[in-house]
Amino acid sequence: MKRKVSVIGAGFVGTMTAQKIVEKDLADVTLLDIVEGLPQGRAIDIMQSAPVEGFDRKITGSNNFAETEHSDIVVFTAGFPRAPGMSREELALKNGGIVKSVVETIARHAPDCIIIMVTNPLDVMTHLAWKTSGFPAERVMGMGGILDTARYRAFLAEELNVSAGNVETMILGSHGDTMVPVATHTTAGGIPVSRLIGKERLDAIIERTKNGGAEIVNLLKSGSAWHAPSSSAVAMVEAILGDSKRIFPVSAYLTGQYGIEDVHIGVPVKLGASGIEEIYEIALSDEELKGLKRSAGAVSKTFEDLKIS
Ligand code: NAI
Ligand code: 2OP
Repeated sequence: MKRKVSVIGAGFVGTMTAQKIVEKDLADVTLLDIVEGLPQGRAIDIMQSAPVEGFDRKITGSNNFAETEHSDIVVFTAGFPRAPGMSREELALKNGGIVKSVVETIARHAPDCIIIMVTNPLDVMTHLAWKTSGFPAERVMGMGGILDTARYRAFLAEELNVSAGNVETMILGSHGDTMVPVATHTTAGGIPVSRLIGKERLDAIIERTKNGGAEIVNLLKSGSAWHAPSSSAVAMVEAILGDSKRIFPVSAYLTGQYGIEDVHIGVPVKLGASGIEEIYEIALSDEELKGLKRSAGAVSKTFEDLKIS
């Protein structure tokens, strides 16, 4: 079926996202960046892997954001990662300018698309993209929870020596220091992990998950993770294009769910052809609910301080 995904930002996350989309035969891809030649060069390189990988999807590169026209989905990865010493607010201001100006163009040229935000600070940039686009809330969402949850699942699987696919869990809240692991919904093959791992080890794994992005940044010395982030963004693309109704933790606009409103924050949602088709309000412990509200408060504050809405 003819499908088009535009990927904004031909950096690490954007390029890998584009590559996975064509390799998985999900859609044709237009890769866009502000740097002349960069998206074109990377798109040609990926295109030349087609005979070896065996895909037939088209991939092109461009510096003209009007070429987002007719996109079913736009994955937004343009912007800067947080540099050492940079505050969350400084990052928000820097990337906020990029998000606002590019989303204005996307909304004009691809008014029916679904936007998946990846740029950090994730929940704040998702909220800004939603406000700027004027799109209905179900068509603007952020990727953070799938990545955080994947890290937690991978660490738990390593600890238990079981398949990562067997570990089910959910990390809610913002993609940042205030993320909320939901212990009550964490199982391996249906067995609550609290019966398989002692509290101290479990707490250490949760702590490692919270620092999952920073651990990689510290090892790489420059730049941040892109393999698991692109896998996570592509999982959302696949669920939407395939109308699969998969449930994922996704940064979504809340209108009173969990007692939280007017903010984007990671909660369990159903993804299908219309985007976010349902937001689930699951039972949380008092501590988890408090954590989710604290997380939403932090996102709201950063957004209000931004003053570019
Ligand atoms: P990168 O530096 O490799 O790529 C960013 C690209 O954006 C560059 O190619 C740059 O030229 C481009 N760019 C800058 N200004 C632009 C503009 N106005 N229009 C179009 N393109 C523009 O960075 P990377 O590693 O790809 O990360 C991208 C973003 O994704 C960062 O903000 C990072 O923090 C975030 N991220 C978020 C994750 C999540 O879980 N939500 C996970 C990993 C990264
Ligand atoms: C990560 O969690 C930096 O948000 C990025 O890897």
